[in-house]
Amino acid sequence: MLVFPGQQISPAQQVAFSRALGELAPTAWVEARLDDQPDIFVIGNTGRALVSFAPADGSDRLEWHADHMYRNDPARASLLYCRQTPPTGGDTHFACMYSAFEALSPEAQAEAEQLHALHSVDLLPGGLKPANDDGAPDAPRLVRCPLVRHHPRSGRRALWFGSKVTVGIEGWPPDRARAYLDRLEAHATRDEFRYRHAWRAGDAVLWDNRRVLHAGSPFDTAQHRREMHRTTIREDHPVR
Ligand code: OGA
Ligand code: MN
Repeated sequence: MLVFPGQQISPAQQVAFSRALGELAPTAWVEARLDDQPDIFVIGNTGRALVSFAPADGSDRLEWHADHMYRNDPARASLLYCRQTPPTGGDTHFACMYSAFEALSPEAQAEAEQLHALHSVDLLPGGLKPANDDGAPDAPRLVRCPLVRHHPRSGRRALWFGSKVTVGIEGWPPDRARAYLDRLEAHATRDEFRYRHAWRAGDAVLWDNRRVLHAGSPFDTAQHRREMHRTTIREDHPVR
């Protein structure tokens, strides 16, 4: 991930810069798109919808993820630009999944490489879910993806799963999958693999979703304003 501090960019400039990196993927959360720049996803409490990726239940367990992990075409990169930030809270955490994979024992690496994770949008905030076909039952939406991704640029391997978005391991009973994923998360998000970004207005942060997980943290939404603009760059390689 890269931090560009002290930026003063308009939504149109953010979109133009992001498009130079690849095709954009607007959020499915239609209410959270900026009116005249629908490629901008407005995160925080200043827009039409309250959009937060912090745990909503008051728990201090972070919800690690990569963007659009629940889609067949996930996000290759994201650019998050801070327009307003509360005096405390609202930090974003990042964790390096190359390091996390490489720190596993050879046996644990071999096991993880054989597994497929199942991701789903169903437990995520409502606005992310695609609208139902009229009257059709709400079928569970599962996306299957290798638990270990091979980075198409570097060839290095990265663990690739999230706290809430990853709902299972293919072929495993739910309890066994949950216990395994919880243990893997505790390992993968150890302090030495992490960076915590305390935002200042004007910071733009760009990250590679193929090999970095991130997570939001709460702030006092009644007292303070947080306004972030995200552009999301679509995956352009087969996911493997
Ligand atoms: C995101 C995200 C975390 C935050 O914008 O994709 O996860 O701190 N944001 O807002
Ligand atoms: Mn995110």
